[in-house]
Amino acid sequence: MKDGRTCFLQPTTPEYAEKMLEYLHQTAAETPFLLREPEEITYTLDAERAILKDLLGKNDTVMMMALVDGEIAGNCSIARIDPKKRIRHRCSLAIALKKDYWNLGIGSAMMEYLTELAIQIGFDQMELGVIEGNDRAKALYEKNGFVETGKIVNSMKYDDGSYRDEIIMSKWIGRPKE
Ligand SMILES: CC(C)(COP(=O)(O)OP(=O)(O)OC[C@H]1O[C@@H](n2cnc3c(N)ncnc32)[C@H](O)[C@@H]1OP(=O)(O)O)[C@@H](O)C(=O)NCCC(=O)NCCS
Repeated sequence: MKDGRTCFLQPTTPEYAEKMLEYLHQTAAETPFLLREPEEITYTLDAERAILKDLLGKNDTVMMMALVDGEIAGNCSIARIDPKKRIRHRCSLAIALKKDYWNLGIGSAMMEYLTELAIQIGFDQMELGVIEGNDRAKALYEKNGFVETGKIVNSMKYDDGSYRDEIIMSKWIGRPKE
């Protein structure tokens, strides 16, 4: 990390279910750029354990957590968007960190790792959505070769009644096209 500490990226295992729920709650409260409001993190501990166990058995969806001094600093994932033959080459990417860990290089390391993983799994295209105003995330994605391909207007609606657009970005990682 930029501050000299070491961050370990490892699969999210069921033993971390309780810490993961706390982490999800905290990140939902800290940023308007994630999908859920904190009160929407409603999984029971058993349900969260089951989700994490189930994920470990999948070969086309991978969730990793960033551990710093034994605490969950962030998580990230790639997931096959759909197994149908015509669209199974596409994966989605998601990434988040607790506020205390922003701007320390963890996001960059996650992007590098997820890209390598997506290539190894055999995906051709990585896709993501970033909410307008999330300049740090957009800069990170552009630095890693993602380009803007579209927009979902009014994608997010907040408790105060305001809306924000979502910018769609993608990165081609398959064979070079003719
Ligand atoms: C977005 C997020 C994952 C980025 O991870 P991070 O570890 O903070 O990112 P890094 O430190 O690796 O890199 C951030 C880069 O953006 C740059 N940056 C920071 N603030 C910026 C801003 N306002 N505008 C443009 N660039 C910015 C940094 O300088 C850095 O670039 P550099 O590596 O060339 O110096 C993290 O900040 C986060 O979790 N945010 C809240 C949740 C979220 O928005 N998730 C993404 C949803 S799409």
